[in-house]
Amino acid sequence: MKRILLLITVLLAIFIITGCGDNKAAKASQTPQQTAQQINPNSKTLVVYFSMPETTTPENMTQEEDNSTVVKNNKVLGNTQFMAETIANTIGADTFRIVPINPYPTDHKVLIAQAKEEQNQNARPKYEGTVPNLADYDTIFIGYPNWWGDMPMILYTFLENNKMDGKTIIPFGTHGGSGFSNTVNTIQQLQPNAKMFRNGLMISRNDIQNGESAITNWLEGLGYAK
Ligand SMILES: Cc1cc2nc3c(=O)[nH]c(=O)nc-3n(C[C@H](O)[C@H](O)[C@H](O)COP(=O)(O)O)c2cc1C
Repeated sequence: MKRILLLITVLLAIFIITGCGDNKAAKASQTPQQTAQQINPNSKTLVVYFSMPETTTPENMTQEEDNSTVVKNNKVLGNTQFMAETIANTIGADTFRIVPINPYPTDHKVLIAQAKEEQNQNARPKYEGTVPNLADYDTIFIGYPNWWGDMPMILYTFLENNKMDGKTIIPFGTHGGSGFSNTVNTIQQLQPNAKMFRNGLMISRNDIQNGESAITNWLEGLGYAK
């Protein structure tokens, strides 16, 4: 009888120890992004973005200029700018545009070369101003074009300058075929204590001119009322 009792006690101990151990391991490996799928559409929200339209005039655009712009009511917007403005207007959020202190060239070839050089140098281009009252925001949409399979380096400057601990980050942007590349992981690395939302929206430059409904449908799916 004693033996049986001892055996039951040992088995129970093993069950409890291994059971608890697994549970602890699961909790420890839960990164912030896994717990951040919950978006609160009623929280105070900011849309931060960088965008580089390669022209300001709607007439006689080259293919490259056309690729990087959306024209609405004869107004020229960058692709990501259009996305940012659509998001902000739809959900009633504030915006902060990351504007480089040294403007980028609009000539496509020169821009491409400069962006590559900045990436090679691991540069931190400076931008104008600061976000007013960043602490007040709970949810931050961050938008950018894919440049050379990454975020433009000025996004690194921004993300290193602004701590977003505890805030929910929702990434979005536009691209020419590469989608997000690895940028969502990079943002999480730069903001380890933010709750990174993994299902952001990247729209191809080919679809952005008529992309409004894709954006509003996505927002609706996140819980934002239409
Ligand atoms: C310097 C530069 C590098 C780019 N590199 C890529 C790339 O690696 N992959 C990609 O899919 N698109 C790339 N593109 C295309 C842009 O992501 C695309 O045109 C985007 O919609 C531009 O957005 P914007 O008008 O908001 O700046 C690049 C564009 C530029 C100007």
